[in-house]
Amino acid sequence: MKDLTPRKEDLDPIEIASRDEIAALQLNRLKWSLKHAYDNVPHYRRSFDAAGVHPDDLKALSDLSKFPFTAKGDLRQHYPFGMFAVPREKVVRIHASSGTTGKPTVVGYTKNDIEVWADCVARSMRASGTRPGDVVHIAYGYGLFTGGLGAHYGAERLGCTVVPVSGGMTTRQVTLIEDFAATTIMVTPSYMLSILDEYRAQGLDPRESPLQVGIFGAEPWTNAMRAEIENAFDMHAVDIYGLSEVIGPGVANECVETKDGLHVWEDHFYPEIIDPETGAVLPDGERGELVFTSLTKEAFPIVRYRTRDLTRLLPGTARTMRRMEKITGRSDDMMILRGVNVFPTQIEEQILKVEGLSPHFQVELWREDRLDCMTVHVEAMPHAAAEESRSLCAGLLREHIKEVIGVTVIVNVTEPEGVARSQGKAQRIVDNRPKG
Ligand code: DLL
Repeated sequence: MKDLTPRKEDLDPIEIASRDEIAALQLNRLKWSLKHAYDNVPHYRRSFDAAGVHPDDLKALSDLSKFPFTAKGDLRQHYPFGMFAVPREKVVRIHASSGTTGKPTVVGYTKNDIEVWADCVARSMRASGTRPGDVVHIAYGYGLFTGGLGAHYGAERLGCTVVPVSGGMTTRQVTLIEDFAATTIMVTPSYMLSILDEYRAQGLDPRESPLQVGIFGAEPWTNAMRAEIENAFDMHAVDIYGLSEVIGPGVANECVETKDGLHVWEDHFYPEIIDPETGAVLPDGERGELVFTSLTKEAFPIVRYRTRDLTRLLPGTARTMRRMEKITGRSDDMMILRGVNVFPTQIEEQILKVEGLSPHFQVELWREDRLDCMTVHVEAMPHAAAEESRSLCAGLLREHIKEVIGVTVIVNVTEPEGVARSQGKAQRIVDNRPKG
């Protein structure tokens, strides 16, 4: 793989500013953002008043802990535009989360918000090793989902040639990557695996592809998956994080030279880690739930938003801005089997240890005698599709899961193509337990 470390002089100066400079900027911006939310969004005025706090009470960054959290339910309650802090006419773009349960969450952007977002994604892409002039293949979905258009504006901002393919039609994805000689791809890691299968199905060697950088996010993925994709394509695989409620992709990104967690773009998004049970702020280094406050957003300021994503904050390395460790999973995705907490990412790690298994998997939960049980459905690689190898692989995976995670599961190794595929975010958990 090529060394794609960006030159220092190409970075935004704040990326490598001193911690004091960053903190001073954050404090100024945080004061503005809290006041902006309080003055313009009735929900924030009510919730601050109820908690007995006023934006003027924020004298230091640590005072933020006195302010109330915002949860997804709050946003749903004010569907569709009740959380906007500017008149609707000033909103130039709407996005919405898919909303698998209940109403979707609607977010809005002013012209300036779109500019800031494009800057954050461009910075993320530069950190990933993408350069002006690169051909960027975008296979995140375009539409209400923030992935496609978020990536698109960032890639244009960086000065790339953008190919806005969106998700789906996997055969064509491969054709276009090859014909247009894309050097960067932006896509969910699970859909990248389908693109990899398609390369092999077409008899092409993925290591010969023009791709040099993959910027993967929108769902949890492991370092084991990184190794798998990097080896298969001979390319850098870098993690991008974000969520609609905070802006979309480009809240945090790994640096290609270190790949040691995602630098949070702290000049725009202020991160905290809390104990999900008590809500107490935890010191850097401790694992908990990630919470974000926007520092510059106009249309949709967000104060102490509980992401439900689990990680920890670490000091900066390639940049001065703090890092968040790769996300273990969402608190909603945590499964509890006989008292042991299990995340799909832990299963992914074990699957990737077994030669003969493909990384396409789904975890099914069911109930027997009032106890929760888990079946891991995972595909065999074509060369291991015979009955015998499949049962060998199943045995190995069962053992690994028992040994490392400490739970007993049923493993069902299917033939290739036996597990449902996604063209965006993979659905890792199928919950067949009786409701209620
Ligand atoms: O997924 C934004 C995005 C698009 C990020 C493209 C990166 C690339 P939502 O649909 O609102 O927004 O979903 C946000 O997805 O709270 C996490 O649970 C999960 N997620 C996003 N990026 C990562 C990542 C977009 N790199 C939710 N690792 C978040 C793990 C991620 N989980």
